[in-house]
Amino acid sequence: RIPNGRRNRRFWINPDFQKHKQKITDNIEIDIEDISDGKKLSICRCFKSAKWPLCDGTHKVHNKETGDNVGAANIRLRQR
Ligand code: FES
Repeated sequence: RIPNGRRNRRFWINPDFQKHKQKITDNIEIDIEDISDGKKLSICRCFKSAKWPLCDGTHKVHNKETGDNVGAANIRLRQR
């Protein structure tokens, strides 16, 4: 059971993106041979990127308009 407060839109991190789905998940495949050492992969956490699931910087506009502080999850890829 979801607490009543969780049903209120003002608590949602994602107010708009793919709300027809019960849960949003994305699988990202990376061909290791194509990745140079130290390359950064930025995953969107604001649900506003036009390049979903990758961050396109739109979170900056969202933060400026709302006072929020969301940003991407950055993954630095390294070869061993
Ligand atoms: Fe969503 Fe950057 S655009 S975190």
